Amino acid sequence: METQQKTLTQPTRKPRPTRRAIQKELKAQTKDEQPYPEYRNFIQSHYDGIAGKLTALSGLLTGHALFAGRVLNPSAFDIAGCKRILDAGCGNGRHCKYLLRHADPDAFIAAFDLSQRMLLRAKRNYGDDRIHYIAADLTCLPYPDDFFDAVVCGWVLEHLPDPRPGLWELCRIMRPGGKLLLMTTEDTLAGILASKLWHCRTYNRKELKVVCEECGFIWHRPHYFTLLHRIFRLGGIIIELHKA
Ligand SMILES: C[S@@+](CC[C@H](N)C(=O)[O-])C[C@H]1O[C@@H](n2cnc3c(N)ncnc32)[C@H](O)[C@@H]1O
Repeated sequence: METQQKTLTQPTRKPRPTRRAIQKELKAQTKDEQPYPEYRNFIQSHYDGIAGKLTALSGLLTGHALFAGRVLNPSAFDIAGCKRILDAGCGNGRHCKYLLRHADPDAFIAAFDLSQRMLLRAKRNYGDDRIHYIAADLTCLPYPDDFFDAVVCGWVLEHLPDPRPGLWELCRIMRPGGKLLLMTTEDTLAGILASKLWHCRTYNRKELKVVCEECGFIWHRPHYFTLLHRIFRLGGIIIELHKA
């Protein structure tokens, strides 16, 4: 994917000084001056290395590893009855654990990641025969059209300078009516700090909604790890999307 569109829909009103300062900071993290293949190689080696190792620790410190189970369960993002399930950008396999726990026993579960080392970590953590791991790029997936009933994509989309190629690809491989649990870094203070550490961008919730709809999704309902996350805008954007 040589050409990546660089920005989301721009807000029409002139940003206030604080907002301008934040946007400047955010821009520094998107690396949009870099061609996508170069940025992708950087991200791959980033996660192959120490950053990838640290995801287990950061998952514990932020609570994301523990809280994932509050969203990936039958009372929130329910995968019962879904026969083909995908963990997109599985990392160390944090979400695979819950997919294995809640998926129907006969469900096919696939997981991919850009980083071979992350795949090894996921296999080491959740090397269950039911999960089919492969190396792939979110913007160019080796799955057929209309294939998956449910997809989880956690904290990966922020690694695309433009979310559209990734969202289009996810939409392509999902069956109409299929559900996607999308988790991504938000343009809050906590999100900006996280983006510095992980060399990613952040998303504005309203702008992301427009882009998701443009890519063929219905913005179904938000999820929050806890009430405190909801009140203090912590934990990023966690949204359930349905393929239109
Ligand atoms: C912050 S980790 C999240 C991993 C996992 N989903 C979780 O929630 O724990 C981001 C992962 O996305 C992967 N990634 C980044 N860009 C990607 C791309 N274009 N295609 C596939 N995977 C990608 C990285 O290799 C890394 O494992």
